[in-house]
Amino acid sequence: MKIIRAKDYHDMSRKAANIISAQVIMKPNCVLGLATGGTPVGTYKQLIDWYNKGDVDFSEVTTVNLDEYRGLPRENPQSYWSFMHDNFFNYVNIDPSRINLPDGTNMDAEGECKRYDEVIHNVGGIDLQLLGIGHDGHIGFNEPGAAFELGTHCVTLTDETIEANKRFFDKKEDVPRQAYTMGIKTIMQARKVLMVVNGKGKAEIVKKAFFGPVTPEVPASILQMHPDFTLVGDEEALCLI
Ligand code: GLP
Repeated sequence: MKIIRAKDYHDMSRKAANIISAQVIMKPNCVLGLATGGTPVGTYKQLIDWYNKGDVDFSEVTTVNLDEYRGLPRENPQSYWSFMHDNFFNYVNIDPSRINLPDGTNMDAEGECKRYDEVIHNVGGIDLQLLGIGHDGHIGFNEPGAAFELGTHCVTLTDETIEANKRFFDKKEDVPRQAYTMGIKTIMQARKVLMVVNGKGKAEIVKKAFFGPVTPEVPASILQMHPDFTLVGDEEALCLI
């Protein structure tokens, strides 16, 4: 595990974007695993800026996103499909046919999870997986207690996660109760894992996840065992370690 200390959110975003653009420069046809949430938005902004300056080219990159709400169509502004387009895909030269997310409208959970695992397998696995972390240690939507050996699966969100994500919706009742998420196994199979974390509110969970025991109760803790895991955090998030 490598820990990179950043001054603030902006510095964290630049450092993470640097690692991602290095990956794309080294392997232009790489597979990027991407994440939603507030934390990576600055990373995407920085990548867009470097793309506009001609420093990074996404034309051969394939993307696979971590998760999607079950039941939300792509066009819903709160879907992760919309989030990714609004915050990143619409502003860079990613080939739309190489963008992959779980399909929230496929209500056949078993069939959709199988399809998504095949997509990841068929693109050759993930070269670099970007992650945020939830306050309870969830990654993607792998909530506390999720088995480490799962591939893509359907989850029922905890109340804490619904509470945390309601800021993106008009009201709490609008937050979907279920989601499709890559499993911990899928994430652990990524060749590189990069987590971004910022703010005081995440300091406790960062300490618990990366300096406490590896346990399914703290899903992110398994990353301690990943052979190429980098954590980029700002001063506030890393203040307890
Ligand atoms: C959601 C996403 C996670 C993300 C988490 C934290 O639950 N599924 O991938 O890491 O939110 O989000 P934020 O970065 O806004 O704190």
